[in-house]
Amino acid sequence: MKIGGDMDLSVDFCGIRFKNPFILSSAPPTTTGEMMGRAFEAGWAGAVTKTLVTDAESIVNVTPRLASLSFPGPADEPKKIYAFENIELVTDRSFSVWLKEIEHLRKKYPDHVVIASIMDDASKPDGWQYMAKKCEEAGAHMIELNMSCPHGMPEVGMGAAIGQDPELAARVTRWTVEAVDIPVMAKMTPNVTDVGVVAKYCQDAGAHAISAINTVAAIIGVDLETLVPKPSVAGYSAHGGLSGPAIKPIALKAVATIAKAVEIPISGIGGINTWEDAAEFLLLGASTLQVCSAVMARGYGIIEDLLDGLENYMEDKGFGSISDMVGRSLEKLVGQTDLSREVRLVSSINEELCIKCDLCYVSCRDAGYQAIQLKEDRTPWVDAEKCTGCSLCQHVCPVWDCVVLKPRQSV
Ligand SMILES: Cc1cc2nc3c(=O)[nH]c(=O)nc-3n(C[C@H](O)[C@H](O)[C@H](O)COP(=O)(O)O)c2cc1C
Repeated sequence: MKIGGDMDLSVDFCGIRFKNPFILSSAPPTTTGEMMGRAFEAGWAGAVTKTLVTDAESIVNVTPRLASLSFPGPADEPKKIYAFENIELVTDRSFSVWLKEIEHLRKKYPDHVVIASIMDDASKPDGWQYMAKKCEEAGAHMIELNMSCPHGMPEVGMGAAIGQDPELAARVTRWTVEAVDIPVMAKMTPNVTDVGVVAKYCQDAGAHAISAINTVAAIIGVDLETLVPKPSVAGYSAHGGLSGPAIKPIALKAVATIAKAVEIPISGIGGINTWEDAAEFLLLGASTLQVCSAVMARGYGIIEDLLDGLENYMEDKGFGSISDMVGRSLEKLVGQTDLSREVRLVSSINEELCIKCDLCYVSCRDAGYQAIQLKEDRTPWVDAEKCTGCSLCQHVCPVWDCVVLKPRQSV
């Protein structure tokens, strides 16, 4: 089966060739080597193993361990998930089995990239170094350091407990870099004040790349009948990690911040669901892209749409390669004080498209500048003198293109 068109979407990331920028992140889609192999066959360029630990036999996952949020829609339409919360731990499969699977994947799929995600606590240099060396010997192309899981593991001094402390993050990075010859990538948690600082510490400790982000610490909701937060495990819950489209804005901000803080390449993660999302991450500085929740919701086959869409976009915009795109939007990201105060916009409502729902009027009246009035037949009109161009009316209008913002002088 041919996936994508004729364009070369390959990327050089830490000196390793990825046939396209799309990688499965460390998560349920990479629970086993067999699954990673199927993903490679579907078109994914690489995959990060579910996080490996040396004492996987002690990991017992609870059930259920997922909750989700969906857009409300008509009952006859499929649900559209915009966030998962998970309370899943690292792999419960033994390290020695994983090493065999890494070896097998390397032999069977020589053109695909295998990244080993590893975790230990910040007081155990031997643990990090042992795992990294063993994965290197088994043939892993890269190591990803899981210093970012926000639930379960921090309680025992691992995961985000390390990534939230720049010095611990640097220490773990240094130990691992010293132990292996393959590139080491540090995976960031978004649950910090400034992810750029942590990334810089890791870069200075020798990291070859940064991946961002892991899930966002979250409680997705409470069952109002039982009063138990979700997901309920025998009547109790624990906070978990949020993923999926809902976290994309947090991830984009993290990637852009890291891109401005470090010189090493970035693997962007968080809410990548469509080729448009992928393009946004590239433009803000990521050069490979990791995906989990979209595959959990729709399977490995989404790679076809991701590749086709990205390729068409690149052709339309005249980008000759992925590297042409990387970071191109960063120069447009400035400090708030550098934004123009001179260019002013004003709202303009298309009466032919208006369905007279009053939403623009109500929101402008109660949360804006009282610039929208209703005519007798409830058609809204904008008082240009009062309108500050804040754009609230445009966002709340349920009809696409009914409200547009125009330069003040052309109104
Ligand atoms: C159920 C589940 C399990 C996960 N397990 C791991 C893990 O073992 N190691 C890790 O580094 N990240 C883990 N993640 C985080 C993902 O790799 C990824 O960083 C996060 O889900 C954001 O990407 P997404 O929005 O595409 O899902 C997990 C995520 C989910 C949803």
